[in-house]
Amino acid sequence: MIEQINETKSYIEQQLNDFKPDIGLILGSGLGILADEIENPTTIAYKEIPHFPTSTVSGHKGQLVIGNLQGKNVIAMQGRFHYYEGYEMNQVTFPVRVMKALGVEKLVVTNAAGGINESFNPGDLMIINDHINMMGDNPLIGPNDDDLGPRFPDMSQAYNRELIQLAKQCGEDLNLELREGVYVGNTGPTYETGSEVKMLRTLGGDAVGMSTVPEVIVANHAGIDVLGISCISNMAAGILDQPLSHDEVIETTEKVREDFIKLVRHVVEKMN
Ligand code: HPA
Repeated sequence: MIEQINETKSYIEQQLNDFKPDIGLILGSGLGILADEIENPTTIAYKEIPHFPTSTVSGHKGQLVIGNLQGKNVIAMQGRFHYYEGYEMNQVTFPVRVMKALGVEKLVVTNAAGGINESFNPGDLMIINDHINMMGDNPLIGPNDDDLGPRFPDMSQAYNRELIQLAKQCGEDLNLELREGVYVGNTGPTYETGSEVKMLRTLGGDAVGMSTVPEVIVANHAGIDVLGISCISNMAAGILDQPLSHDEVIETTEKVREDFIKLVRHVVEKMN
């Protein structure tokens, strides 16, 4: 994998003229618009990048946007790869490896998620303080490359405590009421049944989605500090007496994306 990472890294660096990104952003469903606000952008479509898969799901653009945000050097994924699209775990997480190779030390991972915690409302922003991997797979299964990280990575602070504190402080600064909780990663592509949501609530989940967990595992393996933010786009199945739809997810994320953008901008500005 090292050779592929290095080839991809070289390809991206060729377009950057010595610009070095420090902060990675993975932008989830409906949240990719933030990448349009990056200044002096270099944009590279995934389909042009060696060893990158191509993104398919609607609401996702499929490109890297590299440039300045709030005075910081960032590399953003406008659209991510999902396990449910049929990619292998190591394809889903390959961009995180490449970010690390490019020099990224901090990663902001975002997603749209269903609210499991009944005190949540659609439109809430939730700081992820931990996750539960329900995907039945792990991107680190297979031979371990010790140059990339340890065989048995610690996950006791999978979401960096200082970054959680920073995000909360940023929420206060901006007068945004932020939630905090545990993200459950399912494979999808089906939304959950009502019984599954009850189970996930019993297990300690506050929100559920179909992404993020693989990227966060690999970021931890690589020694990258992670901040996770979920946009609660709907209440998970069975909590309200109504069916779920991808349109609803996109509609709600569009409504909160101003707050979301404000928050991420402020967090990026305050990161050191
Ligand atoms: N379940 C799983 N994934 C999701 C949901 C949900 O309710 N909403 C947005 N992504």
